[in-house]
Amino acid sequence: MDRLDVTEIFEGISFPGHLHTLESLQFAISFPFQDQDILIVSYPKSGTTWVQEMVTLICSRGDPSLTQSVPNWARAPWLEHYYCASVLGAASLRSSLHFRNPKDVVVSFYHFHKMANFLPEAETFEEFLKKFLMGTLSYGSWFDHVKGWTCQTATLENLLHLTYEEMKQTTYKTNIIKVSSFLQHPLLEEEVNNCVQHCSFSSMKNNNMVNYTLVSDHIMDHSKGCFMRKGKTGDWKNLFTEEQNHYFNDFFKSNMQDCALDFVWEVQ
Ligand code: A3P
Repeated sequence: MDRLDVTEIFEGISFPGHLHTLESLQFAISFPFQDQDILIVSYPKSGTTWVQEMVTLICSRGDPSLTQSVPNWARAPWLEHYYCASVLGAASLRSSLHFRNPKDVVVSFYHFHKMANFLPEAETFEEFLKKFLMGTLSYGSWFDHVKGWTCQTATLENLLHLTYEEMKQTTYKTNIIKVSSFLQHPLLEEEVNNCVQHCSFSSMKNNNMVNYTLVSDHIMDHSKGCFMRKGKTGDWKNLFTEEQNHYFNDFFKSNMQDCALDFVWEVQ
């Protein structure tokens, strides 16, 4: 399937046509979930791949055979991608909701646009940042995403809120234990240690099944960057000017004041 130049607009949000069709987007919003399903919800560049890896490893009791032999999109597919219906078949509702400091999200997303040929050409960071704030990039507004999920799901049970920053601050072991107990999938200490080892940034960066090097250069130009780029918090400080930072902070304050969630990152 090669639709690199096609964009699908669905409910006012643009999606790369390379991975999405109107049918696949419709499939995602009308998906018949079952009690045992595990759903990871995140805005792009928030650490989705990391959580996919953790969940796969936890479900495999720390055994890396699956994460080292099957690409991540085939074992933890994106519901809205065109291939999902065929991959899911029998796959497995617990949800984990994953957020990341939006300043690091926009920086990671900017770098990703340079290598991803299915996304519009990356322009200057200034232009890109404006579009991020206006919600006109592919996949829509980070602000609408976070507000939508935090306001509408405040009373939902079986929802685990994770933030990239919290996951970086605490040990990988604590993260695995937290997610495995949420999934009601307790692990032995050795199994936890194996999960920790295989979902570290360096392991994932070296695992072809999750670092996206299996994707052809035509779709992701690997000479222009790495999917597993830095894996750090606070990289925004290397790109934001002081003026952009002030503008972002004001925008954040006026747009997120009615949001009940306590964010653990320092937006300032
Ligand atoms: P950077 O571009 O800032 O390095 P997503 O999977 O939602 O697209 O998010 C990708 C971001 O998560 C990238 O951020 C990537 O490096 C980071 N990431 C992936 N696996 C990680 C891990 N094990 N530990 C820390 N960061 C990770």
